Parts: sequence; structure tokens; C-alpha cells
Amino acid sequence: MKQPPHGESPAPPTDTAPPTDTAAFTATDTFTSAAPPPHTGTPPPVNTPPLPPPAMRRPAAAPPATERTDPDALAAADRARLIHPHLPGGVTERVVMVEGSGCRLRDAHGREYLDATGGLMLAHVGHGRRELVEAAAGQMARLEYYTSFHEFTNEPSIRLAERLVDLAPAPMERVYVTSGGAEAVDDALRMARFYHHRRGEPDRTWVLARHLGYHGVTYGGAAVTGMPMFHQGFGPMMPGVRHLTPPMPSHPEVYGGGPDRVLPARVART
Ligand SMILES: Cc1ncc(COP(=O)(O)O)c(C=O)c1O
Repeated sequence: MKQPPHGESPAPPTDTAPPTDTAAFTATDTFTSAAPPPHTGTPPPVNTPPLPPPAMRRPAAAPPATERTDPDALAAADRARLIHPHLPGGVTERVVMVEGSGCRLRDAHGREYLDATGGLMLAHVGHGRRELVEAAAGQMARLEYYTSFHEFTNEPSIRLAERLVDLAPAPMERVYVTSGGAEAVDDALRMARFYHHRRGEPDRTWVLARHLGYHGVTYGGAAVTGMPMFHQGFGPMMPGVRHLTPPMPSHPEVYGGGPDRVLPARVART
């Protein structure tokens, strides 16, 4: 499918010369500048901006948030210091979770909850699993982090990738690790476009998503999310996205559609 002209998108990208497989990435040496002068302990130069006067610094919270256990104080600190995705500004209620075991959670008031969703659909093995604690603590003690940029890698990523490929259906054979769902969606969008760019079709950039689909809080994830509230006020959204009817034609009212509004996206085929 070539991307036809469409209202929300600018002209197709101009980088129409796709790289060939032989076009090697050449790294430039950024370490050629002269070595910095040795540190002598002298005071900073006079043009260094002065620190703000003490009155402009925030007063320290008393007691510090890290020592609070009172549920109302925790909720107040949350309201003052945390920004929540998907929470309208006027909502003051907070549910401060403090403990989990299996499928149960306990909040700061001591109330118990059945975690029927596994948090945001990701704690499927339950909370407080000893073997997860031990595996994470053991790895953190050995090597808590290293990047997979360039040729760098690490043992847990390699082992996880092998295990995932064993479990995945063919022809999946390689793993790209991200920190969460929205980042994965953004990376998938970029990979799909890059794939076509590399095979000589850089104009092949349409992304088809579903009305009502949710794909996360990043720019690309929100663009493919099929709910207007994720777009209003954040524009211009990523171009080249079309939302199609969700697979629930028996209930068009839930996506504001009807028989006449089914398949709103018209995508030219070549
Ligand atoms: C289908 C889908 N994509 C993306 C996301 C975003 O994942 P995350 O919150 O880990 O960024 C979610 C989260 O619910 C999801 O359900």
C-alpha cells in the first residue's frame, strides 16, 4: 500500500534513497578534543549563575515522605508530587497500595482488594512471589543494569530472549526488549516503517488501528489509540494513522458508529 494524500499528513518524507545493506554506519570519534584542565579545587568562574536565595527553595516536607505511613499524609504527598496518567485534575481520591500477596492487595488503610486484573494486566503470577524477589535481588547484586545499545548486551536479556523464542510461535525468532507496553508500540511503529524504508518503499507509512483500541501514553502509542480524549489537546498527532471499526459490529453504539460509519478509513492499494 502506498500512502495516498490525506488531510492530516504532510507530504511524504523526502529521504527516498533507502540505504543499502552495504551502507555501513561509520562512527565518528567524538573524543578528539583536548583533555580538560586538571581539577584544582578553585572556585567556579564569576559568571556562574548564583544559587537562588534560600527563600525560593522549597521547604522540606516534615516528616519526609519516605517516613510517612499515615494514609492521608501519603495521599496528600501523592497529590502534591505525582502526576498520574489518565487522572482528571479534579479527582482527589487516591488508593495507596502498600502490600500484595498472590491475588490480594492491601492499601494504606488496611483494606483488602482482590487484584482481578493483575495490576495493569502484567502481574499474572501474583504479588509477593519469593522466587521473583530472590531472582531480582540476586541479579541486582551482580549487575543491576547495562545497556543493549550497539554491541553491548547482558546475560539476563540473552536468556530471556531464548526462552521467549522457545515459547513463541514460528516464525518469531528474535526479541526486542523494551521497558513497557507503550514503548513497545512506539518501537513497533518505527520498525514497521523502517522495514519498508529499507526495502525501498519509504512512502509506505500508513498505520491502521482500531477505534477504542488502547496503546499507551507515548506519542505513537497515543496516536494509534482509538479514543478521541487521547488526541484532544495533544495535536498534531502522528500523521498517517487511520482508525478502523473495532471487531464488535453488534454494538456500534460503543464506538459511536453505525452501519453508515463502518470502515471509515479508505486506503488505496497499489
Ligand atoms: C494493548 C496495550 N498496548 C499498550 C499498553 C501500554 O502499556 P504500558 O502501560 O506498559 O506502557 C497497554 C496497557 O494497558 C495495552 O493494553
